[in-house]
Amino acid sequence: MEKKTVLQIKDLHVRFDTDDSRVYAVNGVNLDLREQETIGLVGETGAGKTTTVLSVLRLLASNPGAITEGEILVNGKNVLKMSDSELEAMRGNEVAMVFQDPMTSLNPVMTVGDQIAEAIEIHEKVSKAQAFKLAKKMLETVGIPGYRAGDYPHQFSGGMKQRVVIAIAIACHPKILLADEPTTALDVTIQAQVLDLMKKMAEEFKTAMILITHDLGIVAETCERVAVMYAGRIVEIGTLEDVFNRTAHPYTEGLFNSLPDLSDRSHEPKPIKGLVPDPTDSYSDRCAFANRCPYAVEQCWQKHPEEIILSDTHMVMCDRYQEKGFHIERGTEHE
Ligand SMILES: Nc1ncnc2c1ncn2[C@@H]1O[C@H](COP(=O)(O)OP(=O)(O)OP(=O)(O)O)[C@@H](O)[C@H]1O
Ligand SMILES: [Mg+2]
Repeated sequence: MEKKTVLQIKDLHVRFDTDDSRVYAVNGVNLDLREQETIGLVGETGAGKTTTVLSVLRLLASNPGAITEGEILVNGKNVLKMSDSELEAMRGNEVAMVFQDPMTSLNPVMTVGDQIAEAIEIHEKVSKAQAFKLAKKMLETVGIPGYRAGDYPHQFSGGMKQRVVIAIAIACHPKILLADEPTTALDVTIQAQVLDLMKKMAEEFKTAMILITHDLGIVAETCERVAVMYAGRIVEIGTLEDVFNRTAHPYTEGLFNSLPDLSDRSHEPKPIKGLVPDPTDSYSDRCAFANRCPYAVEQCWQKHPEEIILSDTHMVMCDRYQEKGFHIERGTEHE
């Protein structure tokens, strides 16, 4: 059975106007998130990943950030047209967010138990005492003993703080969880635990997730689909199979080639050559990757490529893809 779409981002454009420049952060992003699935959102720094998910919660600082075009539907409702009270109800209830730094979300002068209880109280009709009891249970679910509910954030380690944030985010059983590099600040062993936990919680509460990460290994372990962003656009999206084995975009190929291969020490990682895109350019008249692309031809400099549908699950934004002579190095299943 086809899964229901819980979040739809259609042709989203976001820009930031500062005193002396205009930054084109998001330039026409389309993305559908289905019930209970996890999409990995990858791409180099400045690609517009954070801006995209902040837009969903309308958390862009209204000055200078502005959504200039597009539509965002959460369970069919247009976020961009919601009143303040509708927005308030959506945040936490339907959509929750986990940031890279747990202290962004935690209140340093409130016990963690009270913070989780507060999240529960906002969205469930229970007494204070009941909410605190539930908060303790929630703490235990994320692997922290319930008796620590009376402690303050600074009494916990980084990994524990991030678990508390996850407990708060999950406490209201959101339909959608937006996680922006939730484990980047943690050391590697704790990273795996926290990700496992998020995945487990998402499954238990039937939460769909967008997971922003720089780590393709994390994507392979945690996500069903992967979206690759470059210069404010999703340039390739598909299942793990599509993107990892049938790589179609030269930038995705570059991302993979720039990774060290731990199983083969003779393999030299090759960073993507050339200059990163200029954020003050919207690249509406040419491909943003053309200057770094080993396959670029004249036409890549003349118009921006459209979305090309390769299969039910796989999309690429590259005009060269279907041409003879175009050949991506990656993948074993190319025809
Ligand atoms: N508040 C802001 N004011 C001005 N420019 C901004 C602001 N926030 C983001 N930008 C710019 O928008 C572009 C996209 O930024 P964004 O943070 O979405 O990228 P990202 O893909 O999340 O990068 P990273 O991987 O480093 O987190 C960048 O050029 C960034 O400098
Ligand atoms: Mg970011």
